[in-house]
Amino acid sequence: MSQQSPLASTLDMTKKPARVFSGIQPTGELHLGNYLGAVRTWRAQVEEGKDETMFCIVDAHAITVPYEAAELRAKIDAFAIDLIACGIDPEKTTLFVQSDVREHTELAWYLASVTPYGDLGRMTQFKDKGEGKEFVSAALFTYPVLMSADILLYKATVVPVGEDQVQHLELARETARRFNHRFGELFPEPKPRLSNTPRIMGLDGDSKMSKSKGNTISLFEPKEEFWNKLRTAFTDPQRLRKSDPGRPEICNIYTMHKAVSPKETQDEVVANCTGAKWGCVECKKVLFENFDKELVPLRTKREALSMDHVRQALGDGASKARRIAVETMKEVRSAMGLGSLST
Ligand code: ADP
Ligand code: TRP
Repeated sequence: MSQQSPLASTLDMTKKPARVFSGIQPTGELHLGNYLGAVRTWRAQVEEGKDETMFCIVDAHAITVPYEAAELRAKIDAFAIDLIACGIDPEKTTLFVQSDVREHTELAWYLASVTPYGDLGRMTQFKDKGEGKEFVSAALFTYPVLMSADILLYKATVVPVGEDQVQHLELARETARRFNHRFGELFPEPKPRLSNTPRIMGLDGDSKMSKSKGNTISLFEPKEEFWNKLRTAFTDPQRLRKSDPGRPEICNIYTMHKAVSPKETQDEVVANCTGAKWGCVECKKVLFENFDKELVPLRTKREALSMDHVRQALGDGASKARRIAVETMKEVRSAMGLGSLST
């Protein structure tokens, strides 16, 4: 079994350990795009154990669009369980909830003062999520400033995300630069780290798989529903009949094979698709089996987790994160000339 490592091959063994930070919104359900684009890379970094890693359930980001309070609370727990089941082991990493560390929102306000208004208006996620909506909150607009704060608060240098977040990361880098230029060198510039499947398309084929688009397969979907959804997923639109040769390089199913199937299977997919030997359903069945192999251990782990254990882990994670956050904020306040107290 020669599955490719989800870690990009940019690791430089000579450098000092990096601090790795990433976040996920507790909305909808953890889906294949989140897993293949981000969470699997997180796990690889945790397991590699070379760098210090921090992963955050970003609940303060989730309130930028209309939501129900009771539902958000339940989703925070659900995401914590799912992430731990995916191998984000709180014994080996810092897993915590954003609003448990108040310094995130404090730093966001301060960083807003060095972020140009015009840059925020150019963010594609703001345009996507705001377009045509009756109510667009100011928080949706300033969302990327909070994301910069999440990262810079811990002076993180590596941020494993899917491709859709690269623009936000570019802004975070510029924010670090602007802050340092104005107030003195304090923040390193964070770089994105992409998996080898940084953009999984949604089932409809129209846009990326996203919780807000209703075009997802949840990672922990019951097997039968998982298959029913995968079976209907779009493929190469030029392939109307089995006898039409397909183009794996533009097919989302092949992209997912590249993430979960062994190299021999990937080669078989290319040969049988371009040679019009397999129909798309046959190809999807093989993918489904390989997903199943990947997901069985995760499902088993998820069933064994207790909420008490998870809450304890989140509490410990928040304490660890807070210790770093408090120190950074002392430096930030002092550099910016804020406050009247010495602590
Ligand atoms: P969503 O877009 O579904 O709301 P989030 O915004 O919480 O998900 O994203 C969490 C992480 O998953 C981010 O790093 C994001 O880039 C990644 N991600 C989300 N959707 C995809 C996708 N379709 N393909 C690859 N990565 C994705
Ligand atoms: N904006 C990210 C998303 O929608 C989530 C996020 C918030 C994040 N803060 C972060 C990701 C810090 C990486 C680092 O997916």
